[in-house]
Amino acid sequence: MPAKALPGFRDFYPADTALLHHIVAAWRTVSARYGFEEYDGPPLEPLELYTSKSGEEIVGQLYHFEDKGGRAVSLRPEMTPTLARMVAAKSSDFKKPIRWYSIPQLFRYERQQRGRLREHFQLNMDLIGEAGPLADAEVIAAAIDVMRELGFGPDDVRVRISDRRVIRALLLHGGVADDQLAAAYVTIDKVEREDRAKGRARLAAAGFAPEVVEEILRIGEIRGLEAVTDRLRAVPDGRDVGEGLTACHDALQNIGLGNFVDVDLSIVRGLAYYTGIVFELFDAGRSLRAICGGGRYDGLLKALGGVDLPGVGFGMGDVVLGELLRSHERLPERRPSIDVYLVAVTTSDVAEVLSLGHALRDRGVRVEYALKAQAVAKQLKIASARQARRAVLVGPDEREAGEAVVRDLMDGSEERVSLTALRDTFTWA
Ligand code: HAM
Repeated sequence: MPAKALPGFRDFYPADTALLHHIVAAWRTVSARYGFEEYDGPPLEPLELYTSKSGEEIVGQLYHFEDKGGRAVSLRPEMTPTLARMVAAKSSDFKKPIRWYSIPQLFRYERQQRGRLREHFQLNMDLIGEAGPLADAEVIAAAIDVMRELGFGPDDVRVRISDRRVIRALLLHGGVADDQLAAAYVTIDKVEREDRAKGRARLAAAGFAPEVVEEILRIGEIRGLEAVTDRLRAVPDGRDVGEGLTACHDALQNIGLGNFVDVDLSIVRGLAYYTGIVFELFDAGRSLRAICGGGRYDGLLKALGGVDLPGVGFGMGDVVLGELLRSHERLPERRPSIDVYLVAVTTSDVAEVLSLGHALRDRGVRVEYALKAQAVAKQLKIASARQARRAVLVGPDEREAGEAVVRDLMDGSEERVSLTALRDTFTWA
């Protein structure tokens, strides 16, 4: 028998499940506040859904195989292609803009490292059918509000926003040809993380002239909206190109979340389908991987379903979020699993315990009792291990009088209460 889960896969013990549910509760709360409805899709999809649109990085990480019917299939590594397909198939059924969220478990064959596993849960919030910058600002604000809901402020987390239209215009102006854009993006994406020499070498190997190499690196180093606007002045139609980023930035200021946001042109994102605003959310200390990433994908629905609808959204994983909660000591308080433990003093009290226990469960009280004959001391030991607030001792004498002893396990005090009152009116909270 294998003694361990597969590398990169997690066993969720109750404490791990409690943490996941804490994160999921924040995801659902914020999604509801923004008027998003939940959807889901199949965990297994045709392989082609990803090979055609997601881009090389994800395609290299697919869990794919041939099923028994000879179909090439893959576990879902991301949700966006499924969403695009689902909307495109029935687009006229839904009032635009569509606001949908989902919390799929995703699978990527990645090299296991801190913050990166081979499965994770990911909140996806997407807005489809609205191309304007207020839609971009809306999903970025929602991502920030999830962080606020979990107790983080602008000193803890930062959103870095950029715009592929801006980067593209600056690159073309700087001497990069249309068919070389993807190669330039790869190095810009790594500007923050890798040595300049490595970036230079990669660009030179891709055939860029030395002055173009320097220009690409400089573009990746542009920070702040003013610097972007400044650089765009030299570009024909630069003002128009920069409008989306400026409007999204201004909207976030008006929403009141501007203090979380930095304009940062090193963000391009690894997925192939992004066409406009792109953004990532990080811990302010930058000691962890990205918590969330997203952007605008205006060509994806057309490519997958023939319906020309713009989209914008993000994915936020549970793994890095869990690490952040741990490192900031913001883990949820564990609630005891029961409110009351019912103690049968003798075996002749068991029938009353069973009956009382079920009556209380019907009232929503969380109840446990021993499942075999046990000494009272042993039963009380389990009650306190469970951190039950109370124990109810049902013994022959009290039962005779139609009563039981309620012991407060926090302060040790006791009172005798009638069995009818215990069943019907006693306040257990
Ligand atoms: P992504 O950047 O690939 O975007 O993933 C989004 C987030 O999911 C990451 O920032 C990270 O928190 C988490 N994540 C991704 N891979 C792993 C992993 N191997 N282990 C743990 N966590 C991981 C997308 O997936 C896009 N489809 C998001 C999107 C939705 N764009 C528009 N709408």
